Amino acid sequence: MASIHIIGGKKLKGRVRLQAAKNAVLPIIAACILTKSTVVLKNCPPLLDILAMLEIIRSLGGRAEFDNIDNQIQLDCSSLALNKIDDNLTGLLRSSIFILGPLLSRFKAAKLSLPGGCKIGSRPIDIHLDGLKKLGVTFDDSDENLINCDGSKMKSGIINLKFPSVGATENLMMAAALLDGATVIHGAAKEPEVVDLANFISHLGAKIYGAGTDTIIIEGSANLLNTTQTIEYTPISDRIVAGTYLCGVAMTGGRIQIDNVNPLHIYPAIQVLKQTGVRFRFFKEDKKIPACVGNLVKKGIFNPIGTLIISASGRPKGCHHIETSPYPLFPTDLQAQFGALFSSTKNHIGVISENLFESRFGYIEGLKKMGAVVYTNANTAVFKGSRLVGASVRAEDLRGGAALCLAGLKAEGKTIVSDIFHIDRGYYKIEEDLKALGANIWREQ
Ligand code: EPZ
Repeated sequence: MASIHIIGGKKLKGRVRLQAAKNAVLPIIAACILTKSTVVLKNCPPLLDILAMLEIIRSLGGRAEFDNIDNQIQLDCSSLALNKIDDNLTGLLRSSIFILGPLLSRFKAAKLSLPGGCKIGSRPIDIHLDGLKKLGVTFDDSDENLINCDGSKMKSGIINLKFPSVGATENLMMAAALLDGATVIHGAAKEPEVVDLANFISHLGAKIYGAGTDTIIIEGSANLLNTTQTIEYTPISDRIVAGTYLCGVAMTGGRIQIDNVNPLHIYPAIQVLKQTGVRFRFFKEDKKIPACVGNLVKKGIFNPIGTLIISASGRPKGCHHIETSPYPLFPTDLQAQFGALFSSTKNHIGVISENLFESRFGYIEGLKKMGAVVYTNANTAVFKGSRLVGASVRAEDLRGGAALCLAGLKAEGKTIVSDIFHIDRGYYKIEEDLKALGANIWREQ
């Protein structure tokens, strides 16, 4: 099994460019079921989860190609059929659930085994199913491992989400897209990836209002399906990959540049890093703008895509408390990376409350093997910064695995991270990016 090897202690210096966000591309691939047009998605990394999602489209009779040269995905769902999808495929990733909405919208029926994904909690799908029921979908529950939907009586409606679930908001937007009339989702998730999906569906011809707020209105239309011109779309860049590298330089020290980033998408993480002493400057198309990201909003720049320059001493300071919450507050997908950061300070205390998933501290066992001093109780972890020493550790899930790589960058000596298939689901050749930033890191098969 492949592993990532790291000799710690080097400062990060260099430049990387972000590719499209895994959590934007995955629902957008599912949304291609809503159109018979050819769709070209640009700047997409060949992540394991993205390749698995393309395989699901192929198993439904669609055409899905990944062009490794241009990092483009070409999809054609004009000749889709309601084939049963291989359970091994849907069990690979959480995002397989995203095809439920568009299949129901297009075919008024869908059959799917339960989704897979990171083992970070029970990850039920009740919010998805309750929302579909509000649109008139009924379910045959005779097989508990199969989601067997009848959408023959579907119509637009009003949905109240009990929790701003990202996936449920995205699934229900897609379910409503081909239904004539207005569907309202109250209590919607506001993540940038939700907004990006809404923008994509609008490119297909639907009218969606309020994406990014807690009330989204979808004016669906069956005509969407018959748009024929080729659609080209570039999903937003990966804010979680960006936040991962910000933590890396905060831990090792140095100065890095990240291109194609929207600092507003990781504003809470930037704020915490500033408090640890990290310095930020932001350039939008080579116009230097004060890095105080709040200035961007004051200047009326609400969608700042540009280059973030980050410099740090490598001695993150101060005590901090992070509470993960739905957007626009602190993202759970950066929780593990900040756990690695708090483990590497000089005797400072860092507290993390994980409020979204019930078991997302799996990486702490690996950090402890590296000398980290961490106390956990229920959904809270208390980190007392200490000297980290390289060790052989195992990735338990996607973001936890990335956090262990960050700890290896800081630790004295050699760290070997195994089970890196978890990491490859969400980072394309993370070792290549970190090597480009000056780390002494390589992959061994
Ligand atoms: C998306 O997962 C992301 N995945 C996750 O990223 C991310 O951590 C999460 O949103 C929160 O931001 C993708 O977009 C592919 P949720 P999702 O539905 O949609 C509970 C990564 O590392 N819940 O917002 O599954 C759920 O158990 C991954 O890239 C229900 O109870 O997240 C969790 O406690 C990990 N019932 C909370 O809501 C439901 O029907 C948030 O889940 C759905 C969710």
